[in-house]
Amino acid sequence: MADGRFAGKVVLVTGAARGQGAAEACRFAAEGATVIGCDVHDSAEIGDGVGYARLDVSSRAAWAGVVADVVGEHGRLDVLVNNAGIGVLETLATVTPEDWSRVMAVNLDGAMYGMQLCAPAMRDSGGGAIVNTVSAAAFYGFALPAYNASKWALRGLTKTAALEFVGWGIRVNAVHPGLVTSPMSDGAAEMTEKIRLATPMRRGATLEEIAALVAFLASDEASFITGSDFVIDGGLLAAGAMGEVSYDFGS
Ligand SMILES: NC(=O)c1ccc[n+]([C@@H]2O[C@H](COP(=O)([O-])OP(=O)(O)OC[C@H]3O[C@@H](n4cnc5c(N)ncnc54)[C@H](O)[C@@H]3O)[C@@H](O)[C@H]2O)c1
Repeated sequence: MADGRFAGKVVLVTGAARGQGAAEACRFAAEGATVIGCDVHDSAEIGDGVGYARLDVSSRAAWAGVVADVVGEHGRLDVLVNNAGIGVLETLATVTPEDWSRVMAVNLDGAMYGMQLCAPAMRDSGGGAIVNTVSAAAFYGFALPAYNASKWALRGLTKTAALEFVGWGIRVNAVHPGLVTSPMSDGAAEMTEKIRLATPMRRGATLEEIAALVAFLASDEASFITGSDFVIDGGLLAAGAMGEVSYDFGS
């Protein structure tokens, strides 16, 4: 058996074909886990020791199939990372019902189905940990209404899930990245640059910085942590609306 914090553990990461999910999958594998990365593509090469399963998280039936396959093949499930997420660059005035529903289906319904269908398998494995990738945008109003609303809802659902699953030995926590340097933020260059400038550290997180926090929360080192919010944002929330005044003062 491999060494590491996740030796003997089976980990499922959604949205793992690129960006944060890929980095998280590789991190878990490097720490000894059997990892199944999931994404919407028919196939994906994620990294050394990372398996792949096609999963559109917005489909409950697809989730049921993947969970059955994972438990059938590996005999257990210990960690779920609900990382898959999308946004649409539309305002409240312009967002279509279809775009609104699509964002909710992936960001909120997808994480809900994942928790609902993975938790019984985790309970049967003796407990486990769920990490939901939410967003610092779940702490303030943000220009993208569908994205913003889905993330506020997932932040709340994380707490409800933590309470419901505590008796099954499953911890559930939320990670809230500010800006992350990833294909998602690269695809919205103008907004990304504004967020970078509003961030006291004046940069986005690396994928590895996010993966390190996710791995900690999924590990036994976080054994007394559940239902909590973990902001990883280079000081963005601390700065608030007075950021320019505070972090430029005296420099
Ligand atoms: N990039 C940022 O600045 C930032 C900031 C805060 C939160 N987040 C959140 O972090 C998570 C990961 O973002 P990222 O930056 O790695 O984005 P990304 O766009 O680079 O990667 C997202 C991955 O999710 C996959 N995906 C999309 N729809 C899916 C579906 N229906 N089923 C399964 N997989 C699906 C995509 O194919 C892609 O591989 C998202 O939930 C995002 O909202 C990102």
